[in-house]
Amino acid sequence: MKILVTGGAGFIGRWVVAKLLTDKHDVWVLDDLSNGRLENIETLRDNQHFQDFILGDIKDKACLASLFENEFDICYHLAASINVQDSIDQPQTTFANDVIGTFHLLEECRKHRVKMVFMSTCMVYEKASERKGISEGYPVKPASPYAGSKLAAENMVLSYFYAYQLPVTVLRPFNTYGPFQKTGGEGGVIAVFLKNKLSGKPLSIYGDGTQTRDLLYVEDCARFVVESGYSDRTNGEIINAGLGQDISINDLAETIVVDKKHIQHIPHIHPQSEIPKLLCNYQKAKEMIAWKPAFRLEEGIKKTEQWIQSTNLI
Ligand SMILES: NC(=O)c1ccc[n+]([C@@H]2O[C@H](COP(=O)([O-])OP(=O)(O)OC[C@H]3O[C@@H](n4cnc5c(N)ncnc54)[C@H](O)[C@@H]3O)[C@@H](O)[C@H]2O)c1
Repeated sequence: MKILVTGGAGFIGRWVVAKLLTDKHDVWVLDDLSNGRLENIETLRDNQHFQDFILGDIKDKACLASLFENEFDICYHLAASINVQDSIDQPQTTFANDVIGTFHLLEECRKHRVKMVFMSTCMVYEKASERKGISEGYPVKPASPYAGSKLAAENMVLSYFYAYQLPVTVLRPFNTYGPFQKTGGEGGVIAVFLKNKLSGKPLSIYGDGTQTRDLLYVEDCARFVVESGYSDRTNGEIINAGLGQDISINDLAETIVVDKKHIQHIPHIHPQSEIPKLLCNYQKAKEMIAWKPAFRLEEGIKKTEQWIQSTNLI
């Protein structure tokens, strides 16, 4: 197939591109490099199926119009502003990229009848209250403009399924980690903790550290994303993916550094947007596309640590 990956030079995007190339599809990558980097796809560009890297913005209609002349079969749409804290401090950027940018892409998908796989997030959910975890019918709560923008974009994406019978799929992966994730800033808790450990710095935990996360290894995430696109059964559906286990940030920190004196608690920047418990129920992904995670947390942490040690890319 001919496939476009937006945000393909980003952390998860580069793994999605890698999997698509392994599956021998022709791949185009669109990224404005606002948070991605060319080094992420350096080794992938030599693959004979890698067609082109386009430095461009999903808000640039002319850029999209010329790119879609390629008549793609699938558009995996991962490009987005991803930082929760930034979205609270500066909602306009997140809204413009995550809602308006998605709208422009949808219009091109409609014109050319291209399936869109839209990358949403678990951050749209209300906190988990049940031990069986969050399934797709669970209440949503836009606790930040990031979550609000993703929900708005999800609704636009699904409206194209109902109004125009456009094949679309909405994905809500839980917090994802692994090699190529940046080690600074919010979002990559494992990457940040590992980097601090390796540089002899303390691990800082926002708040009391009892908040939990369901942590998904990036190769599992990429397989989920790619295979959701291949299946027709996923059209018009919202699907979760996660490990199916949550861990408190305190326990995570103690898994990474055994000695508690290297762990410190600091005040939350925006405590109102913290989700106290996130636990994924991935039953639907299992039923629809036979997906389940292959990497345990300890294995994923080890692979990430090895990668951080082996690279100057941080
Ligand atoms: N990392 C996670 O834990 C996680 C979990 C669930 C969902 N997601 C979603 O997965 C997707 C990828 O996230 P990631 O963690 O790889 O982040 P990332 O920032 O590494 O990737 C996003 C990419 O999009 C690009 N981009 C941003 N705005 C753009 C624009 N206007 N035009 C073109 N390119 C643009 C960035 O340069 C970057 O390369 C995002 O949609 C994110 O919301 C991430």
